[in-house]
Amino acid sequence: MNNTYILILYYSTHGATEKMAQQLARGVELSGMEARLRTVPKISAEIEAVAPSVPDTGAVYCSNDDLKDCSGLLLGSPTRFGNMAAPLKYFLDSTSSQWLNGDLIDKPAAVFTSTGSLHGGQESTLLSMMLPLLHHGMIITGLPYSEPSLMTTKTGGTPYGASHLAGSKSNNALSDDEIQHCQALGKRVATIAKNMLAAKK
Ligand SMILES: Cc1cc2nc3c(=O)[nH]c(=O)nc-3n(C[C@H](O)[C@H](O)[C@H](O)COP(=O)(O)O)c2cc1C
Repeated sequence: MNNTYILILYYSTHGATEKMAQQLARGVELSGMEARLRTVPKISAEIEAVAPSVPDTGAVYCSNDDLKDCSGLLLGSPTRFGNMAAPLKYFLDSTSSQWLNGDLIDKPAAVFTSTGSLHGGQESTLLSMMLPLLHHGMIITGLPYSEPSLMTTKTGGTPYGASHLAGSKSNNALSDDEIQHCQALGKRVATIAKNMLAAKK
């Protein structure tokens, strides 16, 4: 069993959250750990619709083992009405067996989001993603103000997690501050996970 990767689990329709996930992965790798990027399928109003088992582009879908065996988790979603997107919530609602087994207890986790508007619910979405992770017994790590640009950013950036102001067409590039926050958060979760693994040896 490979137990030394950080799972970056995200949903993204237009690619903004995915761009954040890639920067978080850089941060994880800068700390010397493997980053495993995984996504979840869309859900359909047509109850019989079934997604292909492998997506046409981008990250592959997250398996039970990807989640169970991670050493830390970075969870990301676009903001949908101030909340996480339904496909990610749907996936999380299928994690009862990991909850019953306590697979995620005492593992570090952090969250990230992308919005259309600056005050459209970044913090509330980040908090909404923390709730199921707390039920799983994960140790939530935010982004501390030792990141100086948290005080000055004109785009995304919160102490609750990394955020991105994608704009109304979801096509803003990540700002320098947002890139810095994503990398710092990835690095933080990976470093904590590494220290916890070392302490167990
Ligand atoms: C159904 C729906 C609800 C949305 N709700 C919000 C919202 O509450 N606040 C906001 O700022 N943006 C909202 N948006 C915009 C998305 O959060 C934004 O476009 C985001 O960057 C998309 O990320 P993605 O490119 O990873 O799909 C909403 C978009 C959709 C489709």
